[in-house]
Amino acid sequence: MTMAIDWHLARALLEWQVELGVSDAVLAEPVDRFARAEAMMEMAADLATAPVAPLPGAAQPAIQSAVQGPDPVAEATRLAGAARDLPALAEALQDFAHCELRRGARNCVFADGNPDARLMIIGEGPGADEDRQGRPFVGKAGQLLDQMFAAIGLSRTSPDPAASFYVTNTVPWRPPANREPTPEELAMLRPFLLRHIELAAPDVLVLVGNVACDALLGQRGILRLRGTWVQTRGLPAMPMTHPAYLLRNPEAKREAWADLLAVRARLDGRG
Ligand code: URA
Repeated sequence: MTMAIDWHLARALLEWQVELGVSDAVLAEPVDRFARAEAMMEMAADLATAPVAPLPGAAQPAIQSAVQGPDPVAEATRLAGAARDLPALAEALQDFAHCELRRGARNCVFADGNPDARLMIIGEGPGADEDRQGRPFVGKAGQLLDQMFAAIGLSRTSPDPAASFYVTNTVPWRPPANREPTPEELAMLRPFLLRHIELAAPDVLVLVGNVACDALLGQRGILRLRGTWVQTRGLPAMPMTHPAYLLRNPEAKREAWADLLAVRARLDGRG
């Protein structure tokens, strides 16, 4: 009997087996993997030498692009550029089928907070809590983020653009096992992030962690970058250590506080 199971159920079943101590998959009948490997190699050799019949009337570059598919970065640029407002951008991102991260995630985590806020915060990507709830920064790191910005008078929920913040991530889908997004994933999702900033039109950006700095400044090394204003997309941006880092390294909170005060001063026209 075969049973249709979805990705999440299959993963849960596998994890359960691993917890029970299963380390190998054993079938009822032995499998001759040497014979299989030979058959695969013969098949690959046949495919490599098989003539490719030209499509009637199709030029060679068209065949190439049909084989390789559209360029994900070009496609993302086109789709993001066509979005006229934030809901349209959220929809375009949700439907963007070129990024593998989308397949393993429960939710496309677009943004939270007040889209009219003067301050926009950009994080890395959703974790398990964010993936479940569909909102950025709702786990432990998110709670610390809220406390940090509350300390300079900003919240997600205030309707006042001067007393609120808007928050998103560099990638909207949770990477498997919370790994960092690959350079290819960052490149194809970057056009959506740039358009997101354009449409939200904040006065000031805060980039939390290395991944946001990589996507927007082309630089890593947050411990070196933090605390110094930079310009990106025509806006002042403050790189800051990620709240997840601050949870692991509480002694770094003192510097983060200095960075928050610099953000407050900039919003008040004093910095
Ligand atoms: N870390 C991030 O960078 N973003 C989130 O949304 C949650 C944790």
